[in-house]
Amino acid sequence: MANEDKIQGFTHERIETNNFLMIVLIVLVIAVGGLVEIVPLFFQKSTTQPVEGLKPYSALQILGRDIYVREGCYNCHSQMIRPLQAETLRYGHYSLAGEFVYDRPFQWGSKRTGPDLHRVGGRYSDEWHRVHLNNPRDLVPESNMPAYPWLGKKTVNEASVPRRMEVLRTLGAPYTDAEIASAPADVKGKTELDALVAYLQVLGTAIK
Ligand code: HEC
Repeated sequence: MANEDKIQGFTHERIETNNFLMIVLIVLVIAVGGLVEIVPLFFQKSTTQPVEGLKPYSALQILGRDIYVREGCYNCHSQMIRPLQAETLRYGHYSLAGEFVYDRPFQWGSKRTGPDLHRVGGRYSDEWHRVHLNNPRDLVPESNMPAYPWLGKKTVNEASVPRRMEVLRTLGAPYTDAEIASAPADVKGKTELDALVAYLQVLGTAIK
């Protein structure tokens, strides 16, 4: 018996009774499995190239998006329609990776206290959104969405837009110098509500 053990050397038993070896090998297996799934995504056209018709967010939409993040809308709303019939019948075409290449950071989420918002763009009028955000219960009596009455009272900080656009350009959004230079004038005097509605209205509209 003793001789056999020596000959076998690197046995299953040895791995299973050695915590350190076990941990190292588990990490190795998970790392390889993860890399095999993740690495190809960085090189696949369908995940790295914008879908046809996708435009980077305008100056006003960028501000709206940042307000969406600031107010924590993602705590109740996902922006990710799964390829399941129950979802596509309700929300429209399932979300494509190429629709999110200018989303930094993405707002996919999975928490749905409210409906998914990925294709809410164009579903309602601007006026509907204004009334709804000011007090959701004016339109949907049973809604438990919070009211955001302050958004319409505050104008946006136009001086901050060029810097925001420059950062997004570093990350791949194709803004021209002229677009960045004219951004403050484009959004001057707009309210936070204007910005948020502009953002909501463009969501999911790149594909028909
Ligand atoms: C506490 C959870 C909660 C938060 C936070 C929340 N919502 Fe909602 N939202 C809901 C619920 C529930 C509904 C469905 C009832 C309704 O329409 O009011 C809804 C509905 C909506 C709709 C209509 C969607 C549709 O397809 O009918 C929009 C647009 C919307 N929310 C935008 C926002 C925005 C923008 C914010 C952040 C400023 C936000 N929500 C924050 C819960 C939330």
